[in-house]
Amino acid sequence: MTQLADLPTLSRLIREVGLSRFIQGLADTIHADFLRWPQFQKQPRVVNHSPGGVIELMPTSDGHRYAFKYVNGHPGNPAHGLSTVVAFGVLADVETGYPLLLSEMTLATALRTAAVSLLAARALARPGARRMALIGNGAQAEFQALALHWHLGIDEITLHDVDPHATQRLMRNLAPYPSLRLRPCESTAQAVRGADIVTTITADKRRATILTPEMIEPGMHLNAVGGDCPGKTELHADILRQARVVVEYEPQTRVEGEIQQMPADSPVTELWRVLSGEVPGREHAMQLTVFDSVGFALEDFSTLCYVHQQLQRHGLGRELALVPSLQDPKDLFSLTDPERAEHVQGQLPAYTGAQHDAAARHDDALDLDAAPGDCDYGTRRQPAARALC
Ligand SMILES: NC(=O)c1ccc[n+]([C@@H]2O[C@H](COP(=O)([O-])OP(=O)(O)OC[C@H]3O[C@@H](n4cnc5c(N)ncnc54)[C@H](O)[C@@H]3O)[C@@H](O)[C@H]2O)c1
Repeated sequence: MTQLADLPTLSRLIREVGLSRFIQGLADTIHADFLRWPQFQKQPRVVNHSPGGVIELMPTSDGHRYAFKYVNGHPGNPAHGLSTVVAFGVLADVETGYPLLLSEMTLATALRTAAVSLLAARALARPGARRMALIGNGAQAEFQALALHWHLGIDEITLHDVDPHATQRLMRNLAPYPSLRLRPCESTAQAVRGADIVTTITADKRRATILTPEMIEPGMHLNAVGGDCPGKTELHADILRQARVVVEYEPQTRVEGEIQQMPADSPVTELWRVLSGEVPGREHAMQLTVFDSVGFALEDFSTLCYVHQQLQRHGLGRELALVPSLQDPKDLFSLTDPERAEHVQGQLPAYTGAQHDAAARHDDALDLDAAPGDCDYGTRRQPAARALC
């Protein structure tokens, strides 16, 4: 049987695991999968563009498990009361092709994107980074802020959004975390001044230049997250010309990332090479580094494996009769007879592919019970925050 993790289930799971610990567990799982990069079958995501947005399918496999995510990006949606990004995903067993998990991935995408920003910033930002500018204060923003606060030591964040209500909402949501100082700013330039890390996570389907060269200071690290589609950028090309640019999967980022503005042979480094220690991250204190984030299928694969593992550990999720469980696998026709269908489905043992799940391997490889950053700041937080963690 396929397990279902709908939104109420995932949000309950996050409460049980603790938000900080969940982000750390995700980051560890994604990191471990980046270290075995050559094992994955990789391809750029499959995209369907329309004037208002994009719908994407993101598949990958490690030969044992297969995953795909369905995700959109419609920057105009919030004006109609809808989210810019919504997503769901499937984890399947390669040997049989049976789906093991159908999961919500809107919340999971925000968490995994924050976890990936964390991994990149750990490798590329100046050691001891304390101040981040967060440009674009929409749905993803709190997750980016908390991931870098809890797990990198960012304790002050300057904020800017063209929509002041978005900044106010973010400040309200993060008020239970007083160890994180938040400062709203009138402009991007004001927010960026003096920052160690700048995260741009805006949504606008056009060639935007949220950051221009005169805003950039030596030694900054930029997490450019919002430019993730052809014709949708956030950085002026002159910033990319001066920077050491790190990407997830070059063939995809050449088309979708900030580097779509650059010649096809402009130098870039894939993140997995940095994480594996094959090449250095930041090379010197004055270097400008850019993580040109677009989101890659491997990160969603890791997320689905982690969610699957945690559901089993916490006894959450429910079984979903998504694919047949037939006594005679050739008797698909029996499902058209209501009486026989009920009888056959009810009698058979559930499919047991989950027993061999990749999650078990992750479980062995990572001692997630001892994940670092586990609510060690609990004493500094107020009750509302403690409930989450
Ligand atoms: N790289 C990845 O892996 C990844 C993953 C998820 C989302 N994204 C992208 O991140 C972006 C943000 O997603 P979201 O769900 O938070 O969207 P959202 O619509 O909820 O928030 C975007 C915010 O950006 C603000 N904004 C737009 N133009 C701006 C500008 N010029 N200056 C300052 N603020 C501006 C908007 O007012 C809004 O508050 C989207 O572009 C999405 O496609 C990337």
